[in-house]
Amino acid sequence: MNNETLKAGLRQVVGESNVIAGPPGGPALVVRPGTTKAMAECLKLFHGQQAPVVTLGGLTGLVHGTHTPSHYFGISTERLNKIESFDPSTRLLVVGAGTKLEAVHNFAADHDLRYGVDLGARGSCTIGGNIATNAGGNSVIRFGMTRSNVVGLEVVLSDGSILTDLRGLPKNNAGYDLKQIFIGSEGTLGIVTKALLKFSRRPAGTASVLLALNHLNSALTVMEALERACGHSLLALEIMWNRYFEKVSTALSEGTPPLAPGHPVYLLAQVEGMDSGEQAVESLVGALEGIDDVIDSALATTPVQESRLWSIRDGSDVIERAHEHVLSFDVSMRPHKYAAYIADVDARLKARLSDAVAYYFGHLADGNIHFMIGHDGSSGATRLIEECVYDPLANYEPSSISAEHGIGREKAAHLWRSRSTAEIAAMNRIRAALDPAGILNPHISYEPKSLDAQYASAR
Ligand code: LAC
Ligand code: ZN
Repeated sequence: MNNETLKAGLRQVVGESNVIAGPPGGPALVVRPGTTKAMAECLKLFHGQQAPVVTLGGLTGLVHGTHTPSHYFGISTERLNKIESFDPSTRLLVVGAGTKLEAVHNFAADHDLRYGVDLGARGSCTIGGNIATNAGGNSVIRFGMTRSNVVGLEVVLSDGSILTDLRGLPKNNAGYDLKQIFIGSEGTLGIVTKALLKFSRRPAGTASVLLALNHLNSALTVMEALERACGHSLLALEIMWNRYFEKVSTALSEGTPPLAPGHPVYLLAQVEGMDSGEQAVESLVGALEGIDDVIDSALATTPVQESRLWSIRDGSDVIERAHEHVLSFDVSMRPHKYAAYIADVDARLKARLSDAVAYYFGHLADGNIHFMIGHDGSSGATRLIEECVYDPLANYEPSSISAEHGIGREKAAHLWRSRSTAEIAAMNRIRAALDPAGILNPHISYEPKSLDAQYASAR
C-alpha cells in the first residue's frame, strides 16, 4: 500500500469531507473519524502502512505534544464529541473524547452536579486531551488530577483493537487496571475514544479571597490554616508572585485591580458551602481570623466577584501577548522550597540573560509552580533559560520538570532529569508492547539521556 492508497482507504472509512488539511505546525493531512469503529479502521490502515500518526484534541497543550512534521498524519477526535449517556443514580457520564471540558461542566451544572477537573483552557481543551495529559488545573487539592475523576475508558490501540472498560465499578481488581496506563500517556499508547467521568454534588455556593502577603512563608501559614479549618471544603489555593500579579491584574482590570500590586506574594483561595453561600464565606473568614501575616485582602462572595479574581489567575495569556518570545515551565517540588528555588532561578537568569523576565504563579498546595519567561529570542536563549530553570532542580529534590503539562516534544531531552534510566526503559518497553510499529505520536520520544543533556549534566 502506498500513501495514495492509504489516503483512498481513509476517505472510504471517514468520507471525503473528513480528510482535511492540518493545523499550522501540524500534520499536512488530518482524518476525522466520527465513531470508535471508524477510528479503529483508520488505525488498522495506518498500522498496515506503518504510517506515523498524531492524535489531535483541543490543541491547548503546552509542551508541543501535537507539533509534528508535516508528513505525519493527524487523527482528530473533534467528531467524537457526543455526550453519550448519563446515569443519575451513579452520577457517571459517558462522553466522547472530543467533547470540550466546558461542555462537560455545563452538562453537570444542568443536573445540579459538578465535574472536578477545571482549568483555564476549559473552552477549547477536550476530555481526550485532558486524559492524555492527566491534566491537573485549579482544583487538584480537592478532586485530584484527571486520573482521579475518570472511572472508565474506551481506547483504540495502534493495531485497531478496541479496549473497553466503561463498567464504572468502584472496585475491580480482576487483573490489571489497564485504563490507568493510558491516562497521562500523551497519546503514545493508544487513542482514547470515550471516557466515563465521575460527577459529584454541587455546593450551594462558593466564596473566594485574594490575599496580599509579604513572603512565601506567610502563604504557607495561610495554607495550613485554611487546610485545617476548611478541610474538604477548600476547593483551590493558588499563588501569584508580584511580577505575574501586577502584569495580569493591571491588564485585565483596566487600571483598578482588586488589590494594589506591589506586594511580594498573592494568594487566591476558594471555599465551598454545601448548604449555603454564607457557609462558604463564614468558613473562609473564620479560617483567616487571627492570622496576622495578611497585608491586604479582597473577599468575593458572588460569582461575578469571584470570576473577577479568578480571571487574574487564569489570565496567563496576558504574559504570552506581552513578550514576543515566551517559554513556559511547570515544575514540581515541596511547597516550602519555592522561595529558595525561585531566588536561585532569578539569580541565574540575571547572570546569564539580563533581558529575560520571569513570571511565577501556580498551584501552591500541589507543590506546582508555573514560570513564564519572556526573552528576546536571541539564538541560544531557549537552552540558557532551560538550564537556569532545570539545572538547580537537583538541589530541591524530590522535584519534577513537569508537574502537569507532560513531556511532549519540548521536554523530551530533559526527561532524564526527573526519571531514572530504569523508569524510562520500562516506559519504552510498555510502549513497544502496545505500539510495536511505533506509529503513535513518534515525535514524542522518551530518551534515556540525550547527548546535549549528558553535556549539561557533566558541567
Ligand atoms: C495553569 C496552566 C498553565 O495552571 O497549567 O494556568
Ligand atoms: Zn497549571
